[in-house]
Amino acid sequence: MEQRLATSAGVDWDAIRSDFPILSRKIHDKPLVFLDSAASSQKPDAVIKATVDAYEKHYANVHRGLHLLSEEATDRYEGTRRKVASLINAASPHEVVLTSGATMSLNIIAQSYGGMVLKEGDEILISIADHHANFVPWQMVAKRTGAVIKAAPIEPDGSVDMAKVTAMVSDRTKIIAMPHVSNVLGTVFDIKALSDLAHAHGAVMVVDGCQGAVHMPVDVAALGCDFYVFSGHKLYGPSGIGVLWGRSEWLQAMPPFLGGGSMIDRVSITSSTYADAPERFEAGTPPIAEAMGLSAAIDYVQAIGMDQIRDHEQDLISYAHQRLSAVDGLRLIGTAPGKSGVVSFVMDCAHPHDISTIIDRSGIAIRAGHHCAQPLHDFLDLPATARASVAVYNQRSDFDRLAEALEKVKVIFQ
Ligand code: ALA
Repeated sequence: MEQRLATSAGVDWDAIRSDFPILSRKIHDKPLVFLDSAASSQKPDAVIKATVDAYEKHYANVHRGLHLLSEEATDRYEGTRRKVASLINAASPHEVVLTSGATMSLNIIAQSYGGMVLKEGDEILISIADHHANFVPWQMVAKRTGAVIKAAPIEPDGSVDMAKVTAMVSDRTKIIAMPHVSNVLGTVFDIKALSDLAHAHGAVMVVDGCQGAVHMPVDVAALGCDFYVFSGHKLYGPSGIGVLWGRSEWLQAMPPFLGGGSMIDRVSITSSTYADAPERFEAGTPPIAEAMGLSAAIDYVQAIGMDQIRDHEQDLISYAHQRLSAVDGLRLIGTAPGKSGVVSFVMDCAHPHDISTIIDRSGIAIRAGHHCAQPLHDFLDLPATARASVAVYNQRSDFDRLAEALEKVKVIFQ
């Protein structure tokens, strides 16, 4: 990788693309254009090999065995925790809980932190652009505690008016929970400003970073938030593993979410004491081989450089906007300045499901539907959108292919 980076002023993006074996597949006899990475990204060779290696060479349960294989597996598992901490500039690896994914991370925060602090009439402020994973867990804890959920609006271009958000915050607000980047609009939320706003009212800031950590450098200290979560499978790693980063002061105070092995200090017949964080939140056998895959994925993105990834993808997003807005009858959904990661759109002539099905015949994979964001689609008064999303392996030519395929959709439906 280092040699490859030295070959050009930036990064050899052709070589990056060739790191992903699946991208050489043909789909319906056409070269694959994969533009559905916001749902789950493809995996580079290094991650595939690390996962196979885990099972072939280093596999045993972690934190339990007094034998070499268990020690190796434990070292590697804990190594992943350290790598995550370094990726997001956490103060300590003890602030990193390895979970099964961002959804689990948000459920832990909602049930454990939310359950600990929320009282009847307290408020949780989310945004209308949130993923269901940042709606439903809060609804569940609100029902349990009598807290009230409010959702901040977005502007017609998808941007966030901080004055409107500020007007919705009061001393009743105990939690603000918003995405770093909207998975439909691509809007990048100003997490630093939201964290300052939360703290000015004695609230905490929870960030759904699923579409953030994959597209840009993340520094949780600079963002000033209290919790940041993301999934491994969107960061070129395996599915079944994710991250919950939380400030030590909160994690140490929070009760466990799941009970079982590994999360305890001492167990008797009728009661137990618990381990410190992060182990307190890692009941049961964790995703061991997945952690080794995630470790390789973090090495992979760090070798490219998160700044380079952001710049490459920003170029793709601008190019995609230019190409797609030239398609007659196509309307882009989400054009906030500085947006990231995704390009959503609707067409006058066809439903998003039809668009996706037709362009699949040209080898192009996009997502169509509500993208786990039904409240946002209700707010926009759209039944569904089509969404192309970008990753390190995409190139401008992918959007040429997409634009050509969309012209064919027009011909079919008009
Ligand atoms: N949250 C994923 C998406 O936006 C599944 O597609």
